[in-house]
This record gives sequence, C-alpha cells and structure tokens, in this order.
Amino acid sequence: MGSKLMDARFAVLKQLNLRGMIAGSLFIDYAKVADQMTPEQYVQDVIEGKRFDTNLTKQLHKGFRVHNLIPNYFQDARTKNFAAAIVWENPDYDPTRPILRKANIIPVRFDVRLKPVATPAAVWSAAGI
Ligand SMILES: CC(C)(COP(=O)(O)OP(=O)(O)OC[C@H]1O[C@@H](n2cnc3c(N)ncnc32)[C@H](O)[C@@H]1OP(=O)(O)O)[C@@H](O)C(=O)NCCC(=O)NCCS
Repeated sequence: MGSKLMDARFAVLKQLNLRGMIAGSLFIDYAKVADQMTPEQYVQDVIEGKRFDTNLTKQLHKGFRVHNLIPNYFQDARTKNFAAAIVWENPDYDPTRPILRKANIIPVRFDVRLKPVATPAAVWSAAGI
C-alpha cells in the first residue's frame, strides 16, 4: 500500500517536471539497538543492507538515498530525535522544460535543515555523495 502511494508521489513529480523530493526519514527500528550503536552507525548498516529498518529500508528500496542525518528533527525516542534526510531524484527531470507550478499542488511546509552534521565518511561514500 505504502509503495503505491509513494509511486503516486513520484508520478506527480514527473508530471510537474520537478527535480526530486527531500524527506525526513524516521529510522524507527533504531530503538531496538540504540544502546549499542550511534544513529550514524545504524543508518550506515541499513544503507549497506546489514540491518532491516521498517521505514528506511523500504524507502531506500523505492529509490531514495540518504543525504545526511538531521538532529532534533522530531521528538521521537525511537530515533533519539534524529531523522535521515533522504533524497529521490526524478530520472525524467528535464531542465529545459518549464517546471509546472500550481500553488495548490506544491506543498509549502518544509523547514528542513540540510546542513551536514558529524557523520562517518563511510555514510557519505555509501550514499554516493
Ligand atoms: C516507506 C513506505 C513507502 C513503506 O510502505 P509499506 O506499506 O510499509 O511498505 P510496502 O509493503 O508497500 O513496501 C514498500 C516497498 O519496500 C519493499 N520491501 C518490503 N519489505 C522489504 C524488505 N524486507 N527489504 C527490502 N525491501 C522491502 C516492498 O517490496 C516495496 O517495494 P516494491 O513496490 O518495489 O515491491 C511508507 O511507510 C512511507 O511512505 N513512509 C514514509 C512516509 C514519508 O513520506 N515520510 C517522510 C516525510 S515525513
């Protein structure tokens, strides 16, 4: 079900010729091992497929990649208030085509800080950054 809703989002981005989508991913299964490792190490393991995360693993499967971690993203003990900034790039984006802007379709609610925080270099390289 979630997969189909996500596909519908991707279709809207393609229709509007948008470059992509940035979201905050709550890697919710971190809570199970939070006393054993940092969020950075956990996310690295999920990226490498060593751990399954109910949310982040599926988002990676859908084509998102992790860009960086965001501290104090959302008050949620499961992730120690962290989120992973995830990016999906529209493969059909054409910069020569106008971006279709419809004020009532494009949400204007983001206040996501994308400044990188201390993150192991391995996370960046695994994410292809
Ligand atoms: C991530 C999300 C799409 C998952 O939805 P879901 O209904 O739990 O998951 P689905 O059963 O639809 O599976 C999603 C995909 O992950 C895959 N998947 C399921 N289990 C998997 C596993 N163990 N390993 C790898 N991939 C897996 C599924 O096969 C499916 O991919 P497919 O469509 O290619 O077959 C959904 O929870 C979501 O959209 N969450 C994020 C919401 C959001 O936008 N957050 C950011 C802003 S706050």
